Amino acid sequence: MPLVDLFTFTRAELTSPVQFAGGRWVVSAYDDVRAVLADPVTFLPDNALTAVTPVAPAALRSLVRARFSLPPTLANNSSASHTRLRKLVASFFTPARVAAAEPRIRSLVWERLGGTDLVRDLAWDLPAIVLMDLLGCPNVDIPTLKRWSSGSLEFFWGDITRERQLELVDDVGDFHQWLVKRYHARDGELFRALADAGISVEDSAGLCYFLLIAGQETTTQLLSTALRRALRDRELWARLPLPGVAEEFVEDVLRTETPVVTWRRLTAREVVLSGVRVPAGAELVLLLRGKETDPRHLAFGYGRHFCLGAGLARLEAAVTLRTVAEHEPSLHLTGPGPDWLNLLSFRAPRSVTVAR
Ligand code: HEM
Repeated sequence: MPLVDLFTFTRAELTSPVQFAGGRWVVSAYDDVRAVLADPVTFLPDNALTAVTPVAPAALRSLVRARFSLPPTLANNSSASHTRLRKLVASFFTPARVAAAEPRIRSLVWERLGGTDLVRDLAWDLPAIVLMDLLGCPNVDIPTLKRWSSGSLEFFWGDITRERQLELVDDVGDFHQWLVKRYHARDGELFRALADAGISVEDSAGLCYFLLIAGQETTTQLLSTALRRALRDRELWARLPLPGVAEEFVEDVLRTETPVVTWRRLTAREVVLSGVRVPAGAELVLLLRGKETDPRHLAFGYGRHFCLGAGLARLEAAVTLRTVAEHEPSLHLTGPGPDWLNLLSFRAPRSVTVAR
């Protein structure tokens, strides 16, 4: 059986719907993935945020010094406290609050038109600014937040060396300590809501650490992939300003090229998936990217942990594509192909260079 590299593989490389690779079980059939996500008792979400590359002792010491911890809160929580925490966070992303963000998103795109790299000049900071607005967190230094969050993504989901862990670990610790400080200072709507609800500082910081990464890094990636793909199709680019075209295109990108390419679960007991016996305590890597031929997708997961930001991510992507295409009809890709971000669960081009 050919070796599957978990950080770069495509569906076409898999030879079985349940394939053992690099110590993990890759599950790729739509029905299996959906059934796994639908049953959080047999398939625990506890490993959702576990470092893919085990943290080496030197980096671990830094994390301990920084009092870093990720207790079960949202994505990694199989206990009863999940419901309450999820409800609290969901109140910041109601359809009405998300819809009200549209003019702000459009004006942020306008301010960012004219750049030569649509990742660096547009997709990089826009989702972080929108997220901080929605969470009522003013006075955040966005470049620092992006350094912390992109570094954290690589630290937890990357195929990285011990040296790289040591380069990144201070950003991981500093980010967490900043969250602890904002919680104690009740600085921002989200932090006040957590403190008022009696959520401990450890749980609040762990929850915010995940939320402030998941809530914008993934959207940066979706914007990057969607802009690149749209610019490769002149006919589509011309139609994007028409009603509904951007929304439909975003859905197609999510289906076949979602940035959150995989998500993990842990088996609570021995199970059989597509006829393959998988032992208890096994790490499953669920492929969320759909098949070209299948209209369904699981890009935002399914069931109890379904993504709380799906509506926001869809809106940001559609508004961004429509606005750029309206104002820059002659925009086109230039230069060599981009480098890619290749992490276990996240994939996207690191640049989208353009000319007009
Ligand atoms: C393209 C953008 C995004 C993608 C592809 C994505 C994908 C996902 C996936 C696959 C999950 C796991 C679902 C499961 O276990 O069933 C998830 C969970 C989550 N996402 Fe997103 N996400 C995106 C954007 C966002 C945004 C903008 C937010 C901000 C609100 C967000 C917040 C969350 C939260 C809080 C959870 C955990 C929910 C829970 O455990 O109850 N995501 N997301």
